[in-house]
Amino acid sequence: MEGVLTKLATSAHIVRTRLHALIQRFHATRHTTLTLAEPLSAEDCQVQSMPDASPVKWHLAHTTWFFETFILCRFDTHYVPFDDAYRMLFNSYYNAIGDKHPRPQRGLLSRPPLTDVMRYRVHVDHAMAALLERHGNDKTLLDLVEIGINHEQQHQELILTDVKHLLSLNPLRPSYRSTPPASAASCATPLTWTHYDGGIVRQGHSGIDFCFDNETPAHDTLLLPYDLANRLVTQKEYADFIADGGYRRPELWLSLGWDKVTAEGWNTPMYWDGEMSSHAFTLFGMQERDPHAPVTHISYFEADAYARWAHMRLPREAEWEWAARQLPEAALDLATGMLESNGFHPRAVSPEAASSHPSQMFGEVWEWTSSAYDAYPRYSPAVGAIGEYNGKFMCNQFVLRGGSCITPRSHIRATYRNFFPPEARWQFSGLRLARDA
Ligand SMILES: [Fe+2]
Repeated sequence: MEGVLTKLATSAHIVRTRLHALIQRFHATRHTTLTLAEPLSAEDCQVQSMPDASPVKWHLAHTTWFFETFILCRFDTHYVPFDDAYRMLFNSYYNAIGDKHPRPQRGLLSRPPLTDVMRYRVHVDHAMAALLERHGNDKTLLDLVEIGINHEQQHQELILTDVKHLLSLNPLRPSYRSTPPASAASCATPLTWTHYDGGIVRQGHSGIDFCFDNETPAHDTLLLPYDLANRLVTQKEYADFIADGGYRRPELWLSLGWDKVTAEGWNTPMYWDGEMSSHAFTLFGMQERDPHAPVTHISYFEADAYARWAHMRLPREAEWEWAARQLPEAALDLATGMLESNGFHPRAVSPEAASSHPSQMFGEVWEWTSSAYDAYPRYSPAVGAIGEYNGKFMCNQFVLRGGSCITPRSHIRATYRNFFPPEARWQFSGLRLARDA
């Protein structure tokens, strides 16, 4: 009997500890989103620069809508929605929830004003805090809060990439942050390789920590021997590709990629100030490019063409993940190029990073892999509307790994799968080379 009581007490303690940590992370995440919007005016928050990007005001509302729709309306019988119209206005893509305002027209929502959206956030934050006080031992509820926190972190990254795109189109070339952090003069790091024997290895997430459903189930997969570059491809290396006619040689490109190059007139990565310029637009406005920093804002097509020009290839996502699993345990904690560092731009490898393991695996730029975004064997999405989160996008997209300079550290892990269409390049996306061994 005593043993049973001890077990019950221990399990109650675990639930209380998880609840306490979750409440703290909920408030911290909500606060971080507000700090990211702080440098922006109401006008900045209103405008939508292209169909793929959303106004900051919409991001602020939609992340709040997520908690209201999937948690408060389901678990709090006394909850009164802030405004019934928001259910449709700020629904992104959940068909099971009901109607949606068209994505390309989010920038037309001049009403509700930003002040109302800010009040909406406070309304939902208070209701969430009260709900967690009352029903904090409900595992389903806590699991959804965890998804809501991670969902908001994804939108934090989108706020920054969407704002960067918006500001880049303004002829005044305004900056999001006024002063770039001081950085030591970077130097070239020679390209070396880490060898992996391959074999039958594990891929995917297991264990009790949070992950998205697309990271599961963990399963065996076969890797042939391969090598992975010790660092990301740099601006200088990419400039060599351009100088060698990279954007003018169809033999280097996938057919769809070449169509895109010719249709859009691409001749540099996005945000470069022309082929001959040494400057590029950043969240600090127009800045001189660091030749040793990772190339960024390239599409899958460009990453693939560069790899072909270099007589190498992109890593498969299982190869990347297997290499990430071999990193020392502290690698993620020690990664400096993430949102918490406030760098807001990828940086060159630091000289002290030299080790037997590849560097820059977490942070700096998302790394394109050659893997199509697909379901793992025996994958099944969650039941209900929340099941629309990932599974229905498993078509015509490629997987990116590792996070970027604006990814929150607590958001990323070795098994994390990001995905974008092959032509997308407004995210902080770059590449690392791989080769068969
Ligand atoms: Fe969303």
